[in-house]
Amino acid sequence: MVLVYLNGEFVPQAEARISVDDRGFLFADGVYEVVRVYDGRPFLMDAHLRRMRQGLHALRIDDPGVDGLAAIAERLLDENRLRSGDATIYIQITRGAAPRAHVFPPAGTPPTVYVAAKPFQPHPPEYHRDGVAALTVPDTRWSRCDIKSVSLLANVLAKQAAKEAGAFEALFVRDGIVLEGSHSNVFAVYDGALVTYPACNYILNGITRQKVFDLAGQLGIPVVEAPIPLDRLFTASEVFLSGTTTEIMPVTRVDGREIGDGRPGPVTQRLQRAYRESI
Ligand code: PDD
Repeated sequence: MVLVYLNGEFVPQAEARISVDDRGFLFADGVYEVVRVYDGRPFLMDAHLRRMRQGLHALRIDDPGVDGLAAIAERLLDENRLRSGDATIYIQITRGAAPRAHVFPPAGTPPTVYVAAKPFQPHPPEYHRDGVAALTVPDTRWSRCDIKSVSLLANVLAKQAAKEAGAFEALFVRDGIVLEGSHSNVFAVYDGALVTYPACNYILNGITRQKVFDLAGQLGIPVVEAPIPLDRLFTASEVFLSGTTTEIMPVTRVDGREIGDGRPGPVTQRLQRAYRESI
């Protein structure tokens, strides 16, 4: 029996119920986080919770107690016997339930808070070892991609298009610039330096992206935040993705074209090793 947390209670998942008036259901009016758990221990939880507070603030949803979520996650890992192996914590907060109207519900309407801990099936090891393919797609999202909103329709369609093309990830391109993946950030390597799109309203500033910055600093690898035009992406010596479930993933083909020599490069591999060691 899987136990989840919903609005102050730990309940069997099969009995967890939200209202059909929930604004998450009606308007995708909420934020979420996915936290990776390695061997029973949440990784970078504080950074995820910090971003969640920022998202709530941006959406003007009252903080229903983000400070307490780490302890709730810990209890879910215990109750669901996830203290060994790979897992993820999923957290979602919405503006709560109220009769459907675009304007905010009356003050005092409690936000909906949902937390779940689930086993995570890691990607096949050859993905990280040999690299994956990516497909570029037009970025049809809104212009507040810095908010980790549950409104993910464009991401869902993009990832499905990638899957149907035999690719692992879809890369969003806006005005000829490669921004990020459907559920990951994108880095390219030129002359040994990392280049990635600047953290602004057009991308999610990934927690793993920020971790890559830290690791690159420790390894003496320069990082430049700058736009990467799509045609320039193909001249990179290496390309990789970063993300909570993606970790550091080499990309060896984009739109069917080889990147570098078509194999994961040394900079990506150094970062992968450093990432593993930091867990
Ligand atoms: N996605 N960009 C987008 C659009 C994302 O959805 C994600 C994460 C990232 C990487 O962020 P982080 O390093 O904090 O995981 C970048 C999560 C994992 C998801 O939707 O499942």
